[in-house]
Amino acid sequence: MTEKTLSDYQELKALVNFHNYRYHVLDAPIISDLEYDRLLNELKRIEAGHPDWVTSDSPTQRAGAKPADRFEKIRHPRSILSLANAFGRDDARSWFERVKKIDDRVEKAKFVVEPKIDGLSVVLHYRNGLFVQGATRGDGEIGEDITSNLRTIRAIPLHIPVTQSSNLPVPSYLVVRGEAFIPNKEFEELNRMLEEAGEKTYLNPRNTAAGSLRQLDPQLTASRPLTLLVYQIVHSEGGTIPTSQWEVLEYLKALGFPVTDVAKRFDNLDSAIAYTETWNKGREKLAYEADGMVIKIDDLTLAADLGFTGKDPRGAIAFKFPAHEVTTTLRDIGVAVGRTGVLTPYAMLEPVEIGGVVVERATLHNFDFIAEKDIRVGDRVLVKRAGEVIPYVIGPVVDARSGNEQTFKPPTKCPACGQAVEHFEGEVAWYCVNAACPAQLVRNIEHFVSRGAMNITGLGIKIVEQLIATGLVRDVADLFTLNKDQLLELEGFAVKKAENLLGALNQAKAQDLNRLIAALGIHGVGEVMAGDLSRNFGDLSTLSKASAEELQQIEGVGPNIAESIVDWFSRPGNQNVLKKLKAAGVDPKGQSSVTSNQSAALNGLTFVVTGTLPTLTRDGVKELIESNGGKVTDSISKKTSYLVLGENPGSKAEKAKSLDVRIIDEDGLRALIG
Ligand code: IVH
Repeated sequence: MTEKTLSDYQELKALVNFHNYRYHVLDAPIISDLEYDRLLNELKRIEAGHPDWVTSDSPTQRAGAKPADRFEKIRHPRSILSLANAFGRDDARSWFERVKKIDDRVEKAKFVVEPKIDGLSVVLHYRNGLFVQGATRGDGEIGEDITSNLRTIRAIPLHIPVTQSSNLPVPSYLVVRGEAFIPNKEFEELNRMLEEAGEKTYLNPRNTAAGSLRQLDPQLTASRPLTLLVYQIVHSEGGTIPTSQWEVLEYLKALGFPVTDVAKRFDNLDSAIAYTETWNKGREKLAYEADGMVIKIDDLTLAADLGFTGKDPRGAIAFKFPAHEVTTTLRDIGVAVGRTGVLTPYAMLEPVEIGGVVVERATLHNFDFIAEKDIRVGDRVLVKRAGEVIPYVIGPVVDARSGNEQTFKPPTKCPACGQAVEHFEGEVAWYCVNAACPAQLVRNIEHFVSRGAMNITGLGIKIVEQLIATGLVRDVADLFTLNKDQLLELEGFAVKKAENLLGALNQAKAQDLNRLIAALGIHGVGEVMAGDLSRNFGDLSTLSKASAEELQQIEGVGPNIAESIVDWFSRPGNQNVLKKLKAAGVDPKGQSSVTSNQSAALNGLTFVVTGTLPTLTRDGVKELIESNGGKVTDSISKKTSYLVLGENPGSKAEKAKSLDVRIIDEDGLRALIG
């Protein structure tokens, strides 16, 4: 390998830093990860031979320093200010009126609007272009030295300007401020990985970012997907810096800092407010959590002249979005029985306002979630309500515990009907599978009468609710014993409407078996599977006696669904419904097929033919079977309905016997067709 000179080394170092910038700041890499790693390895190789060449801006020096046992305090060169809040446009306008009175230049001022990122405010020091120190905001005067942690954030340039070709003058001492954060997508990915590893997940991106930067091991910080955006020059010496906020953003960007691309400049406050409000509605589109937008007077000299109120500069205002997340007390945990009988826990909360709406209930997803997050009744909990999503509990605020909180135990019985609840392998949910459960009844009937199921028209939800409320219907079978007098007593029913409904119900008695099976709402049994079950078992009473093993012979029926079917039919409540259906004349036979000739004699049956038949050729028998709705296959399995046996058969007859497949001859086949 050729010996490298110091200038080769410096060139390579700048090149790696440049590609790092393309990737982590511009989000637009121009080489592959592999190529990047190659360059970095070459750099490491040179450094190993020349330790004296290594400088602090080498990309190899990002994570390194040994864990300290505390952070040093750093006095900021200037106060790190905070912002006054405005809640809505009226607040923003009165801020404008106030500052206008102080200085009439404000009247004609321009404004820059930037996202107010919900992260951790950090202060970065550069001497002669080198990143030398980084601090937290602290109390605004004194912060903590978190340089080693900040160095691990690849979006922070170790040297400015980042691009070699840039001749931008850089002050000999430049202090910039920005917000370090974890983007939402990366946060979710991090939590997903932690969950997979069986570790505790984090509550929200902000706390995770702050926690990752304010802990003592830089390696841990390096493993967190932190990034940052800068927005302010806090201080500079030995050079000139721009005097408007807009130019500051452009200048920082040109130096190689990550700068928001959401910022915009406006000629007047109203358009600045209008832009802010578009982001209030569209905040989900931002890659990170923002709790508002900052409206800044563009002219920084004017802004500085306006002075402060307390720690807040008068030249800018935080236009806050309504909060998405709040903490409140979890009073109790309720359990609702949902559409398919699924039991869903929900939080009963101390009422709290989130984004202009009072929230008293929030979802807790499922029982595993409560256990994983260790959510206890009485906890302070973090609740989120964003966009159209139903409010949900994020997790408990463990530090706020008094010790009186109660661990929650999932119910073993359905809260509505008292029957034992069920758990299906591979699913987190618990179910009530009692078809007569009152909490499920409305939904059950809705499903039963729906288009893909029994297709009974004239039974809207309002009518179903009335039928249940009046006690006329306690399960789906009761629908078929309704009479005209009963219906006429219901609200909104006249003779015609009652007759129509009774007509529709009467017609439904002749509905195909596959539809009836689908209508029962057995967990895991949809329309297609209902068709398979119908073809294979022929009627409900046979299906109800099928064992899990028999059921699994059907394509698509695995052990879980087989078990779910067996379980459904084993329940006395469901058995009773079946008995009532039969008594009411709802007992279709399985000869249905959605696609082909529904009345064909061999519909749903599968045949295997072997040996020579007396009159039919191979093609002839195939045609006869298929034209009557049957299917011909080559090999025998448990799913075969019949073996058609001729002279000189092969081994198929033996196999059919061993599998208990019925054997017929040509006459037998003709008899089947009728
Ligand atoms: S400007 C004089 N701009 O919001 C400058 N702050 O309550 C004052 N923040 O502590 C800050 N994004 O950490 C400014 N684009 C942005 C910001 C921003 C987030 C944070 C900052 C500050 C807090 C103000």
